Amino acid sequence: MNKRADFTDLQESAFWMPFTSNRQFKKAPRLLARAEGMHYWTPEGRQILDACAGLWCVNAGHCRPKIVEAIQRQAAEMDFAPTFQMGHPIAFEFAERLAEIAPEGFKRVFFTNSGSESVDSALKIALAYHRARGEAQRFRLIGRERGYHGVNFGGISVGGLSHNRKTFGPGVAGVDHLRHTHDITRNAFSHGQPVHGAELADELERLCALHDPSTIAAVIVEPVSGSGGVLVPPQGYLQRLREICTKHGILLIYDEVITGFGRLGKPFGSQRLGVLPDLFATAKGMTNGAVPMGAVFVRESIYEAFMQGPEGIELFHGYTYSGHPLACAAGIGALDTYEEEGLFERAASLETHWEQAIHSLKGERNVVDIRNIGLMGAIELAPKPGAPGSRGYTALVKCFEAGILIRYTGDTLAFSPPLIVEKAQIERIFDSVRKVLQALD
Ligand SMILES: Cc1ncc(COP(=O)(O)O)c(C=O)c1O
Repeated sequence: MNKRADFTDLQESAFWMPFTSNRQFKKAPRLLARAEGMHYWTPEGRQILDACAGLWCVNAGHCRPKIVEAIQRQAAEMDFAPTFQMGHPIAFEFAERLAEIAPEGFKRVFFTNSGSESVDSALKIALAYHRARGEAQRFRLIGRERGYHGVNFGGISVGGLSHNRKTFGPGVAGVDHLRHTHDITRNAFSHGQPVHGAELADELERLCALHDPSTIAAVIVEPVSGSGGVLVPPQGYLQRLREICTKHGILLIYDEVITGFGRLGKPFGSQRLGVLPDLFATAKGMTNGAVPMGAVFVRESIYEAFMQGPEGIELFHGYTYSGHPLACAAGIGALDTYEEEGLFERAASLETHWEQAIHSLKGERNVVDIRNIGLMGAIELAPKPGAPGSRGYTALVKCFEAGILIRYTGDTLAFSPPLIVEKAQIERIFDSVRKVLQALD
């Protein structure tokens, strides 16, 4: 057995881990070796309850038979085929299935391999759309503070998490940002959508006045910011944003990488929140996290704008693995599982229970806010003086020791269990978190 085969000493490991303190982790690794349903198991066989669906993606729970079998079948039948100037049936089939659950009018699907690629594809489609219609002067992109849109250059440029931006130069030109909507002075401990803050959408009018709206191509927001700390849109906010975009001919892009595929109790967040974008980016739950894949959904009018003029390649964009057969198979298996088990409806029916359970932690030590919508939620802790983020990280470690997998961002703990979660497991998640918070200094 080679020195590292038992994974007890990873200090010299070749794996440069993403979004991880490598030195800290490799001194005290937390490994997951097996998964099924609501659980992971560590290499030593310790069971871990998954309170964050892996990384917001395993919405149907782990290793679901339909998905596993679909991938196995497809791998044996056809491993790869190109989608540039060629096609394969399963990619067309999966696109149709996706269009069936999309909001009315979103019949066209562009495949990518990740959330970051979906975001960059959506931004490029927005720019190319305006150009195709003779409005090439619309080059500006508007994001929002605390937004997370993945890690590619487009995504970090419109994103609003400074750690993800500051070391990578100026990014895409012509980008500006709306203010974020997080306001715990007025909205702390809101259940669902907070009451205050619709007027923050008027920031877009300020940016229109500053830049001239005819130069703005698109605004991109997460319907609910996930990685920024589960920031639920104030009541009326998205409606206002939609109205202003429509008034000025600006495309509204939703980043539904987290809110897609049932997280908010509907196929997509826009259907739950009642405000439609013009195009939206997805990934994660699309294949239940089993094979990397993403997609951009566009309104028919956007697709049509590209289908004018002489025939030829309409959009010079795409990835080798766009519509990868294994990913399509996994995606069809995931949609079958979601549908047969009614998991989106299940998420909706559990929401009140979830809300009560997470809000029962109000009053615990250091808790300054609790937020929820659908089957997602966050507990924000006051930062430790002089050591911001340390309470969040320690809570993650202690929860893991207590057998619960959670996420944290700064000092905010985030939760998004698979939609198969049982009520008793919801109790267990928040009882464990309560004990961890009581012991946290
Ligand atoms: C809203 C949002 N957009 C984009 C991404 C990036 O997705 P990926 O990590 O698959 O590139 C994420 C990932 O967490 C996300 O939450």
